[in-house]
Amino acid sequence: MAEGLRDIPLHRGLDRILIDEETLQARVRELGREISEYYGDRSPLLVGVLTGAFVFMADLARAMAMPLRVEFMAVSSYGQATQTSGVVRILKDLDRPIEGEHVLLVEDIIDSGLTLEYLIDVLQRRNPASLRLVALLRKNKPRSVPARADWVGFEIPDEFVVGYGLDVAGRYRNLPFVAVVKPDAVLGK
Ligand code: XMP
Ligand code: MG
Repeated sequence: MAEGLRDIPLHRGLDRILIDEETLQARVRELGREISEYYGDRSPLLVGVLTGAFVFMADLARAMAMPLRVEFMAVSSYGQATQTSGVVRILKDLDRPIEGEHVLLVEDIIDSGLTLEYLIDVLQRRNPASLRLVALLRKNKPRSVPARADWVGFEIPDEFVVGYGLDVAGRYRNLPFVAVVKPDAVLGK
């Protein structure tokens, strides 16, 4: 067991903590302040991408000292594999039109950037008043698409991470920190 990880069942399978709870919370509060300042007296609609963004979305929304609304979309992800297929499918769409709304898309992580690229395209065609993006994490790697985000919580190395909403095969979403899993866990062993 890596240093800093107590031997409790939730932590088995983890290699090391990448971003601890205190650092995460401080950065999310800072993002909340910055984003609130940007919107001023415009009330944004936060659109979270399920399932990974649910924890970040909950903390970010509470860090924004302004009236806002929240909705979620669900898109297909990697399933149990860790390589992007480049194919994104909407599993759950928004309940209402977003025409004329100030939409803030809330993502957990930008890896290849393909998911975000697809979502931007879909939402932009619905004529929102504005569309901005915040991602908690962005992997530092070369990409075929630009992976533009207006706010990014942390740039991280190109490793598979879990916790704070992120999973491997559905597990570890409830970790209060972001960690790198042992290679065996990523392969589903
Ligand atoms: P792309 O490649 O389209 O991927 O930017 C975005 C989605 O892939 C998932 N993803 C991860 N999930 N740990 C995870 O738990 C990771 O390191 C990771 N990398 C990508 C995630 O669902 C994200 O929305
Ligand atoms: Mg996932």
